[in-house]
Formats: sequence, structure tokens, C-alpha cells
Amino acid sequence: MVTIEVTVRDGTMYTVSAEAGITLLEAIRKAGIDDLLALCGGCCSCATCQVYIGQSHPELFAPASGDENDLLDGSAHRRLGSRLSCQIILADNLAGLSVTIAPED
Ligand code: FES
Repeated sequence: MVTIEVTVRDGTMYTVSAEAGITLLEAIRKAGIDDLLALCGGCCSCATCQVYIGQSHPELFAPASGDENDLLDGSAHRRLGSRLSCQIILADNLAGLSVTIAPED
């Protein structure tokens, strides 16, 4: 299991445990957190699953794929650490990851 911290739009922080191998989006939804619309269902075509990655995992600040990067460019809320949660696969090395759900575009 991978334990992460998720801060939702009202500022509440949740500790979420999820199995490695699923996406960050799936982990957040399985925890009952419904702030992310994720309109495309995780197909990397909507950008409504944007999160901000905490600085404890700088490797995730690396440039996203071309499609993800293009979608994030269309968001008014893109900033350092922006990623699409459907494109991040949880792995054991992400334990302790903290993410904040971005405002809705
Ligand atoms: S759910 Fe649509 S891009 Fe992530």
C-alpha cells in the first residue's frame, strides 16, 4: 500500500492508502474524495483531474508527456507542480506524496 496526503478544495487534508499500480486519480476517488470531475475518465483528454504535487517528490515536477503538457497549458490554474492525476501511477517510491487538488477551471 502507498500512503499519500490529499488536500481538497476546502482545505481539508485526508490520508489515503491505495495499492501501488493504480493511478493517483483512482486512489483519490476510491477514498471517496469527489472534488475531481475527471470528465474523460482518465484518458488524458480533459484536464479536470489536475493536482499540485508537493515538493517532497520533485521527480514528479519533470515535464509531463506531450498530451498532458498540452492539456495543462489550457488550464488557467497551471503552476509549478501541476500534473494530471490520471497520468500518475502510484508506486512504492511515492509513499508520503502530498497533493492538493487544483481549483476547477
Ligand atoms: S481525467 Fe481527464 S485528463 Fe485526467
